[in-house]
Amino acid sequence: MSCSVTIKNLATSRDGVRLYENVTLDVSHKEKIAIIGPNGCGKTTLLDIIAGLRNIEEGALELFHQPMTSLADFKSMRHLIGYLFQDSDNQFLAPIVEDDVAFSLLASGVSKEEAKLKTAMMLQDLGIEHLAKKIVYHLSGGEKKLVALAGVLIMEPKLMLLDEPTNGLDQAMQLRLVDILGRIDKSIIIVSHHKEFIELVVEKIYEITPTGLICSLNHKNGSHHHHSHTHDHSHPHTH
Ligand SMILES: Nc1ncnc2c1ncn2[C@@H]1O[C@H](COP(=O)(O)OP(=O)(O)O)[C@@H](O)[C@H]1O
Ligand SMILES: [Mg+2]
Repeated sequence: MSCSVTIKNLATSRDGVRLYENVTLDVSHKEKIAIIGPNGCGKTTLLDIIAGLRNIEEGALELFHQPMTSLADFKSMRHLIGYLFQDSDNQFLAPIVEDDVAFSLLASGVSKEEAKLKTAMMLQDLGIEHLAKKIVYHLSGGEKKLVALAGVLIMEPKLMLLDEPTNGLDQAMQLRLVDILGRIDKSIIIVSHHKEFIELVVEKIYEITPTGLICSLNHKNGSHHHHSHTHDHSHPHTH
């Protein structure tokens, strides 16, 4: 199924205060974009709306080419959307890393054996297999972020929402995250005020203003984009 997010003339408020008007945004299949803006401008609110956690007040939202007119419409979409919360502690579902990463898989009905295998592969893929038996709340901020990301990615979402993913991460961990996100072949919406980071990950940057989004192309990251689209089926086959 091809992923797309289409938002038309969205307006929203919090506690009666209007945050923005006329927010219009198109995210196509496997496109990576970032949304920036000052504190309190409504970035998290916008992700919550796309994830189906908050109602739309005005405007329209389509996910995967389906109009979302009420929160009930999101039910069949939930497994397609991976939402990495700003605070990893809000994301954990079990105290031990490997149980946490496997939790949603097991809840969705996957067998214990398959969940164990997939969890091991996911931890290895993110380079955190050594954390498997650790207690999530004892990890560093960066380690927590990668464990939370593993728990989201293991469900194989088509659309990833990331809220301020570099918060509290040191430089080395930020670069690790850049590398991981560069390898993820999905539609990604990153909310951040960390420009140096998002310029390494996304193709387009949108800024939230009171009257809508201002889009700018990111010229610093042409390479990831072209790579991910030319790689398909380019490897030689041997028979
Ligand atoms: N749970 C909440 N209840 C009421 N108001 C909130 C809540 N969370 C955020 N707000 C307010 O809504 C506005 C937008 O918040 P948010 O979407 O979190 O902005 P951002 O992520 O861009 O910092 C802010 O003015 C904030 O104070
Ligand atoms: Mg926020």
